Amino acid sequence: MTTTAPPRAELHRPQFHLTPDATWMNDPNGLILHEGTWHAFFQNNPSGSTWGNMSWGHAVSEDLATWRELPVALPCREGELIFSGSVVHDAENSSGLGAPGEPGPLVAVYTSAYTDAHPERAGTQAQSLAVSRDGGTTWQFHSENPVLDRGSADFRDPKVFRHAASGRWVMVAVEAVDHSVLIHTSTDLRRWELASTLTDPALDGGIWECPDLVRIPAAGSETEESWALIVSTNPGGPAGGSGTYAILGGFDGRTFTPTAEAVPLDLGQDCYAAVSFGGVEGAPVLLGWMNNWDYAELTPTGPWRSAMTLPRTLGLAGDAVGAPRLVQRLRVPAEIPVVDLGGQIAARLDGTAVCVTGVLDLRTPHRLSVRFGEGEDSPELRVEIDAQRRVVLDRSAAHREPFAPGHTRSAPFVPPAGVEQMPFRLVLDASTAELELDGGRAVISQQIFPGAGPTTVRIEPTA
Ligand code: FRU
Repeated sequence: MTTTAPPRAELHRPQFHLTPDATWMNDPNGLILHEGTWHAFFQNNPSGSTWGNMSWGHAVSEDLATWRELPVALPCREGELIFSGSVVHDAENSSGLGAPGEPGPLVAVYTSAYTDAHPERAGTQAQSLAVSRDGGTTWQFHSENPVLDRGSADFRDPKVFRHAASGRWVMVAVEAVDHSVLIHTSTDLRRWELASTLTDPALDGGIWECPDLVRIPAAGSETEESWALIVSTNPGGPAGGSGTYAILGGFDGRTFTPTAEAVPLDLGQDCYAAVSFGGVEGAPVLLGWMNNWDYAELTPTGPWRSAMTLPRTLGLAGDAVGAPRLVQRLRVPAEIPVVDLGGQIAARLDGTAVCVTGVLDLRTPHRLSVRFGEGEDSPELRVEIDAQRRVVLDRSAAHREPFAPGHTRSAPFVPPAGVEQMPFRLVLDASTAELELDGGRAVISQQIFPGAGPTTVRIEPTA
């Protein structure tokens, strides 16, 4: 399978982030590493650059850096939109949906969002299956859909994985308006039993969407593990509009038991519906939608709209009091040149994509200023460090034309007590800016529309 796409040089087009060729994209769906190829399906309007006609688009990558779009995998049908979901490799053909004697199929578990045109189920959302017997290229809808129907109007976004210890399939899905995650289990992907329901009163800022439950193996141990429940809320995000949260805890195959409070997965405006790839051994790899429902349809790109974030690897580290804390490392493509600031106060940058690295000295307020183009009036992205050692990504001046004026500054990262020197990586790729702080203890993602590549980075004192 060829996965390399020709470079596309339109204004604002990221080169190392997944973007659709010419249409609308929202949530990542059905992320899976299968037979050495990374598959990303995504919420797609195949005939427009705003939300509508929801179907599953499809793209593939060999390296998680460059992607090639394939034909639409699951098109919407009369009376049924294809909402978010996941893909599993049913290696043992537990579903019986594979061909006898052939390798086990890929099975997509997605939400059927029935429209008013549906004769029996208008206005409801239920979970359905589709199968691919050729490694993800072509798909057939299952004849007995839906397979899980609660008669609900807001039951959606099934994320399915194999739970090794219980030998069962596990599905997390939301009752979006009730702010709850429902955990169902199955032996065959076709019959599902409710195992438990979870809610978190602290996350009541908006409807819940796109949950995931990921296993994070403890470093150096085969058996020790933590789990993280990921859930997106709209609104209620940490920087306004939509956003993604993570809750650490334990999982016994039926019930998730939180051991910590929900924390933002990303402190910026532009990381939503982040979910993990299936088929990955060890640390989970997540991809998020790099947009925000408050302005998603207004981004100044065309004919395509939206990008995915860079992939992020999840791990754990101890915090100052020894409690485990989520760590998220950006997977920066090897093709992106690295400019290390070292002890310098300024450096020249070149090209549309660059990764700036260095150490922030938190003892005095200052800013890291990235200019796009020449001159004082050129667009500028700022990393601000204030007198309380808080770090904020500020995109208020980073656009060529005014954009999302109500959404300029990220939520602040407050580093652990005593931290004075903080490593950072700032990855810039056309309209994407992703800042990783303190070895991955925080990530901040923002879209920017400077209309030019980054030209200089400079450390400047502030009041
Ligand atoms: C999240 C979401 C999902 C839904 C999909 C529809 O962004 O609203 O809950 O399945 O988008 O496109």
